[in-house]
Amino acid sequence: MKNITLGILGGGQLGRMSAMAAARLGIKTIIYTPEENSPASLVAYKTILADYLDEISLEHFATQVDFISYEFENIPVKTVEFLKKLKPVYPDSTLLEVSQDRIKEKTYLNSINIPTAKWAAPTSTGDILSTLDEWKSDEAIIKTVRFGYDGKGQARISRDTNFDTLWSDFNGQTLIMEEIIDFSYEISVIVARDIQGKMVVYGPMLNEHENHILSKTTVPAPMDDKTANSALSMAERLAQQINLIGLLTLELFVTKDGNILANEIAPRTHNSGHWTIDACTCSQFENHVRAVCALPVAPIGRHSDAIMLNLIGKDIEQVQDHIALESACIHLYGKSEIRDGRKMGHITILK
Ligand SMILES: Nc1ncnc2c1ncn2[C@@H]1O[C@H](COP(=O)(O)OP(=O)(O)O)[C@@H](O)[C@H]1O
Ligand SMILES: [Mg+2]
Repeated sequence: MKNITLGILGGGQLGRMSAMAAARLGIKTIIYTPEENSPASLVAYKTILADYLDEISLEHFATQVDFISYEFENIPVKTVEFLKKLKPVYPDSTLLEVSQDRIKEKTYLNSINIPTAKWAAPTSTGDILSTLDEWKSDEAIIKTVRFGYDGKGQARISRDTNFDTLWSDFNGQTLIMEEIIDFSYEISVIVARDIQGKMVVYGPMLNEHENHILSKTTVPAPMDDKTANSALSMAERLAQQINLIGLLTLELFVTKDGNILANEIAPRTHNSGHWTIDACTCSQFENHVRAVCALPVAPIGRHSDAIMLNLIGKDIEQVQDHIALESACIHLYGKSEIRDGRKMGHITILK
């Protein structure tokens, strides 16, 4: 295999774990991030510290790499459009654009017959109230269309909500309104698709949140085969329709009556796939690296059931309880400062 250098936009833990998977394949990684001492930089060959819109630095970055990918979805589409004239960037900007904007995301999913919660794009209090009437509902969720994560940029509303405060809290941002799904549980599926169109899937995983942040993932998700298979094929259909080269994650709700609704697309590796490092022969990170470097994806080779526990903020102290256990695989992201809500690491317990 020829020597490959992969450029990754973003310096978080997802980039770090992709860089580690790349290293195992003999692939060098160059991280492009505005953040000093980022988790990914600590394990990469090199880092370029610059703003995502700094075209001189972007060009300098592109000349040093063979392929480019990104590890979070808030990279400006403009950055990817600029870079793709210089080197292959996977996944393509179409997927990035769709997953950055909840209205585009839901419109796209519905256009390929993937069902979602009912949604609307209100621009006034009148719109919100008339949509509640139309849905014969007293409550809904309002989300900012862009930049939401870990439940940030969301509010549950009812007819009694003070809408003046709501609009001013959201400060002129474009909003989406969604029906509240009374789900039984939440799952996710990860799909990697290579340049030849070959696909591999991980999941479905069962995901449990605390304070809107993923806290625990269980695989396999305790669900019937029929529902599990339809979740897998939904993710594969999405990957195929959008002509994915790379890896994406589909977050889904399973409703009380057994239907599956898509919630969000992440154009990247996902926290709910961290267990794949220890329970599979080819992790989500390795298949991400393979697909974006135009190599074939490999069968996932899941050899164990697993539970992944996120270490959020002070949870990192729990490492002491697991450090000497045989089946606990500990992963720490090298973040020096512990902050509330900050993802510090995770533990995968193999079953
Ligand atoms: N329409 C909905 N009905 C019920 N719960 C929802 C709905 N949308 C989001 N949630 C809950 O909020 C969580 C975060 O919402 P999500 O849209 O995934 O945003 P993000 O992960 O970007 O913060 C979901 O995992 C789910 O638990
Ligand atoms: Mg989400």
